[in-house]
Amino acid sequence: MRQPIVIAPSILSADFARLGEDVRKALDAGADWVHFDVMDNHYVPNLSIGPQVCKALRDYGITAPIDVHLMVTPVDRIVPDFVAAGASRISFHPEASAHVDRTLQLIHGHGCKAGLVFNPATPLSWLDWTLEQLDLVLLMSVNPGFGGQKFLPGTLDKLRAVRARIDASGREVRLQVDGGINAETIAAAAAAGADTFVAGSAVFGQPDYRAVIANLRERAAASVSC
Ligand code: DX5
Ligand code: ZN
Repeated sequence: MRQPIVIAPSILSADFARLGEDVRKALDAGADWVHFDVMDNHYVPNLSIGPQVCKALRDYGITAPIDVHLMVTPVDRIVPDFVAAGASRISFHPEASAHVDRTLQLIHGHGCKAGLVFNPATPLSWLDWTLEQLDLVLLMSVNPGFGGQKFLPGTLDKLRAVRARIDASGREVRLQVDGGINAETIAAAAAAGADTFVAGSAVFGQPDYRAVIANLRERAAASVSC
């Protein structure tokens, strides 16, 4: 069962010097969620932003869902901080958590939606004993750590496989794709089963956010309906 399309600009590519303003501009231009990439220079070779920045966005008046993508280890220590900072959803990489089931319980216990993230080489067998607890499955279509990379086409087969598992489960689980999503790649990802699209450089790298977001949404929708 396919859910409405969600476009989630990754603020990794936003203007950090005027972040609140830039995020508001993307939301006013039609973005659905704020994708918030958290990198620790340990699990991934880059360092980005933490809970204080999430709270600053809430204090600035951002009310849209904040979709936190944790690329950190350990995971559990930082989860309550993001909940307190106003996160709506928290996703993490199973390799980064010593106890995946415990982390899922921790996120849900704080009233947030939970997602599991799969790197290009991470096997889908992690879904065997977790899918029943997931609100979102995120497939990385690049190796995590940096914006502006090229979409890895092998993600399409993986998306189809996860779509089949979600449909078979009968549950409302979002299927998100992250990395290299743009006007050229979004249609194939949507046709393969994704319903939630992260786009960083494709949105914040262009002057007209409204035009980019509308175009992404249109291309995704056209490809789902055919
Ligand atoms: C990569 C991040 C992505 C990234 C996407 O580790 O998880 O969210 O910012 O950027 P683009 O859309 O430029 O590939
Ligand atoms: Zn991300």
